[in-house]
Amino acid sequence: DGATEEEWFVGSIDQGTTSSRFIIFDRFTDPVASHQIEFENHYPFSGWHDHDPTDLVSSVEKCIEKATEDFVSKGYKTSQIKAIGITNQRETTVCWDKTTGEALCQAVVWPDTRTKELVRDLKNKTGADRLLDLCGLPLSTYPSSVKLKWLTQNHDGVRKAYEESRLAFGTVDSWLIYKLNGGKDRNIHVTDTTNASRTMFMNLRTCEYDDELLSFFEIDRSKVDLPKIVPSSHAEAFGSLASGPLQGIKIAGCLGDQSSALVGHCGFKPGHAKNTYGTGCFLLYNVGSEPVISKYGLLSTVAYDFGEGQRAYALEGSIAVAGSGVKFLMNNLGFVRDSSKVGELAETVPDNGGVVFVTAFSGLFAPYWIDDAKGTLFGITQHTQRGHIARATLEATCFQTRAILEAMEKDSGHKLEGLAVDGGMSNSDITMQTQADISFIKVERPEMRETTALGAAIAAGIATKGCWTSLPELFTITHSKPGRKTFDPVGSPKKIRLMYNRWERAVEMSRGWVT
Ligand code: G3P
Repeated sequence: DGATEEEWFVGSIDQGTTSSRFIIFDRFTDPVASHQIEFENHYPFSGWHDHDPTDLVSSVEKCIEKATEDFVSKGYKTSQIKAIGITNQRETTVCWDKTTGEALCQAVVWPDTRTKELVRDLKNKTGADRLLDLCGLPLSTYPSSVKLKWLTQNHDGVRKAYEESRLAFGTVDSWLIYKLNGGKDRNIHVTDTTNASRTMFMNLRTCEYDDELLSFFEIDRSKVDLPKIVPSSHAEAFGSLASGPLQGIKIAGCLGDQSSALVGHCGFKPGHAKNTYGTGCFLLYNVGSEPVISKYGLLSTVAYDFGEGQRAYALEGSIAVAGSGVKFLMNNLGFVRDSSKVGELAETVPDNGGVVFVTAFSGLFAPYWIDDAKGTLFGITQHTQRGHIARATLEATCFQTRAILEAMEKDSGHKLEGLAVDGGMSNSDITMQTQADISFIKVERPEMRETTALGAAIAAGIATKGCWTSLPELFTITHSKPGRKTFDPVGSPKKIRLMYNRWERAVEMSRGWVT
């Protein structure tokens, strides 16, 4: 332990849906210190999903403090941390009052479906058919645009602030950057291209706010401050920490978490793809320097933007429920005490016993986009055990991943050869083997799975003198590490076909259940 003066480090804030963390990486992309804090998710009504914006900030600040203590206790100095990156849950919408710098309401979290009636109305509005081509996203409850619109119509505090032109809007990156810089006293109100591409306000080709999109949602820019859109890697745009043990250190990178995971896997070439099994599960496929608009239910998004012509786009398949399905088994049904034990529970049975669980707690996202689908369990008999339901829960993510891969193949004309994975559920061997079997694809898991946090550290390091100098250098560093594990497909094609047919029928039957 301990360090020479030449050693340098980059910190990474990873603000996710259920927890915040701060990880300090060394030049070899290995984590040397970290801290994680879970915070409360609020579900006040069916379909609602809130975060307290102050929890997001305080949990990040606490993680920075604790991880730095750990770092210093290992003999390192804070002056060796050259820069900080931020990565975050995307789409989640925060509204604050620019005169006080304080949040006006709870943050509306990305899987929230309170907007489904609004979305239904918007789908019938003139201009709705142009949205996908302009911004890459289909109209659904998922993006920030409908969340902000709903708040300006239904939340008194937000409506009033909007009418009085006091309203500031941001996704979680913007809110954190604003607060960590000192809030209204050192007002930095920015977002990066990847996060902005999730709002539905940004034109995917120009990477600037688009008047046609804003006017479709009837968002008047003179009444709400939108964050300035900047590249994901930048030495000046994101300011620096205003307080705490790392006070003064620059924030030099910012990426939405799924983009960050692609960068963490060093998926810098067209054709590279990754699947991150977090709260939800998100498959990103690098399509190169021009966006590809999907015809088969995928999203088109900015993969990363390192400025000066180094912008890449991705096709994305978003699954709303992955780890949150496991949490549901644990917290709501009491099946296990620890989410890491779900794999063991699934292994108590040889197969799903005919059970299919469409985990559509927030409707179904890609490639189906069924806003009114509800979580539905099929095939229960007296034979059904908890193990079968656990297995069906894990399989739900794997089936959706297969559907996304098929859509990607149709959109791109290429079959993916392998899938790089990370995130909580990727720790489970049975889940990764099931994924390989169900989708007939080789699944590749790196030893170091803090890939999401690493991506933001890379974005920050690349923008900072004296850190990494090129993306190929990073590819070599990360891909020369031992401990990668490959899961090859071995399942019986006939059995898999039967399982997948059942899944597709179950998806159809999960539609239109009114609660
Ligand atoms: O789009 C939502 C996504 O960014 C959330 O990621 O890791 O919290 O599931 P995660």
